[in-house]
Amino acid sequence: MKPNQALFLINELKANINKWNHEYYVLNKPTVDDLVFDDNLKELIFLEEKFPQFVTNDSPTIQVGGAFSSSFSKMDHPVKSMLSLKNAFDFKDLADFDKQIKKILETKEDITYSVEPKIDGVSISLHYKNNKLSTALTRGDGITGEIVTKNIMQINDVKKTILINDEINLRGEIFMPINVFDKLNHQRLSNDEKMLANPRNAASGAIRQLNPLVTKDRKLAIFIYFALNTKTKKDYWDSQIETLDNLKKDGFPVIQNYVKATSIQMVMKEINKIIDLKSTLDYEIDGVVIKVNDNKLHDQIGYTTKFPKWAIAYKFPAEIKETKLLDIFPTVGRTGRITYNAKLKPINLVGTTVQKATLHNADYIKDLDLRIGDIVKVKKAGEIIPKVIGVNLNKRDKGLIKWNEPTQCPSCRTKLIQTENEVDKYCPNSKCFSRIDEGLIHFASRQAMNIEGLSDKQIISFRELNLIKEIPDIYRLVEKKDELLLLKGYKEKSVNKLLNAIDLSKKNSLSQLLFGLGIRHIGYKSSKDLANRYLNIDDLIKITYEKFLTDVDFGDVKATSVVAYFNDEKNIKMINELKSLGLNMKESKLIIDDNSFFFNKKILLTGTFSDVNRDEAKQFFQTLGANIVTSVSKNTDFIIAGTKPSTIKLSKIEPSKIIRVYNLKELKNYEQ
Ligand code: IVH
Repeated sequence: MKPNQALFLINELKANINKWNHEYYVLNKPTVDDLVFDDNLKELIFLEEKFPQFVTNDSPTIQVGGAFSSSFSKMDHPVKSMLSLKNAFDFKDLADFDKQIKKILETKEDITYSVEPKIDGVSISLHYKNNKLSTALTRGDGITGEIVTKNIMQINDVKKTILINDEINLRGEIFMPINVFDKLNHQRLSNDEKMLANPRNAASGAIRQLNPLVTKDRKLAIFIYFALNTKTKKDYWDSQIETLDNLKKDGFPVIQNYVKATSIQMVMKEINKIIDLKSTLDYEIDGVVIKVNDNKLHDQIGYTTKFPKWAIAYKFPAEIKETKLLDIFPTVGRTGRITYNAKLKPINLVGTTVQKATLHNADYIKDLDLRIGDIVKVKKAGEIIPKVIGVNLNKRDKGLIKWNEPTQCPSCRTKLIQTENEVDKYCPNSKCFSRIDEGLIHFASRQAMNIEGLSDKQIISFRELNLIKEIPDIYRLVEKKDELLLLKGYKEKSVNKLLNAIDLSKKNSLSQLLFGLGIRHIGYKSSKDLANRYLNIDDLIKITYEKFLTDVDFGDVKATSVVAYFNDEKNIKMINELKSLGLNMKESKLIIDDNSFFFNKKILLTGTFSDVNRDEAKQFFQTLGANIVTSVSKNTDFIIAGTKPSTIKLSKIEPSKIIRVYNLKELKNYEQ
């Protein structure tokens, strides 16, 4: 495409998307379907990647993928402002809270409270009207929130329609389950992307994405803890426990493990039970919320400007401890990247013994001026990976020397290199043993070739014994069975089991193999995309940079990396060896119908189909042997247009090449 043509299209797409955003977020009157919106946005992203000279600050793509967008429209909370909670740091604070309430109510009787875990997420206010979710607002400054309805709609647990007939305002907390957070970070690690700090930040970033598809992908969840009647502006039910019970009965995702406590002493006992539960939950909690159960007493007890006086948040004691930094040691990843960890004098943190913590990269250590022998502060970040967060300078012994950043690889002593724009340093030696070990470990790992019984330790010891030097050697172990049997702890049965598991992995899919090869920037999902698109390695090897951009929607970084990988003779030699060792090099999930009219045709999908979602539609055409493209070019054979197609796309192709359908089933035996 010529630059002037691209500029024309970019301007057209920007104008449309900005208009649709305005209609959606400001006027609350969307005029296009989500899929049309996404199609146009993706096309704009594609064109801007190809023609970066035309990217302007007002482009709606600028915010996509970013953690935070300031472009959400704002709105005052229509029912009541969203207050924050006063914190209690110990049981004395709780006793004072109880005393004050009794004083205001002029009673000596015990107060009944609701006791609920305090979810460490992002608060949200959901407005329902005519049985439908109409608006979702973030807390904002408590008075004005941001309208994030479109994104919240993407969260499965959020009810879009309800049976309650009144206008109702439900409030709760959006969070990212710990298992989702772990997977996301694992994926980011395999893709060489920056890790997310903790589940709360991840959730907050995910609901403030300009592209709702990103929110959907982040698999957030919600717990509701409040219900207000929009018209009367009062609590919907008479007590907090009744509210939670009724919402639960009606199938709402309500906060779990809440209890009624009939005195402040009972509240304290229940807090201890929640503390015990904490490590078993798949979401972060950072305290316990205590609310006067009888909602009718709330106004009488009253409010300060910031907090209600009838509720308090008991915060768990800070999980930060001090210990001695015994050593700073670097590790080399399979890509050669150097990361640093701290060896610590063991301490107990949140029930587990911690003796190692992450220090990220050299800049982090230098910024904190950490010195071996220092007393450092250690925290379990997001309850997952312990992290050194600071140093206690008052306890620093005289004579501790400044840390010197290593200049050589800790494993092979090769001089480390640093490329422009990267904070990390790399070991450039592809024969470095640590890099080789990490590469082999990755190859055998669960998400990759899933070779059961071939543990990290075994891999390293086999490599040290020269039994394995590179990936193909794993499949040659069968020829070295006699040598294996001589090793300590290896018997006929265990060796057979291992060799069988290795043999079995030969049948794995192409996507597993690709992921296992560890191509830089190509994570689990990208490997799947490549395998599903090209189906066998021989075709994949021949693909050009430009085709990766159009065929699988790769950006520059991924496309460059795949091309470089397959242009390296060493890699091709290894792939050929694996092939002759009998490894499957095909993606067999899709059975291609080569008699189909769409076989080998380049088609573009736009609009929605009544019988399938977008992923299913793609798969449908892939089984018919079609190549799915995402932008119109002169090579596009057909546009399959469902309901509300992108008019811009349709305008770019001859009418005879447009196939309009309502559902895809109609196309199964299509002939022209
Ligand atoms: S009640 C006026 N209940 O904690 C009462 N809040 O620090 C306000 N939170 O902004 C909220 N779990 O985002 C309540 N069970 C729970 C909660 C909870 C988490 C959050 C909420 C609030 C913040 C206050």
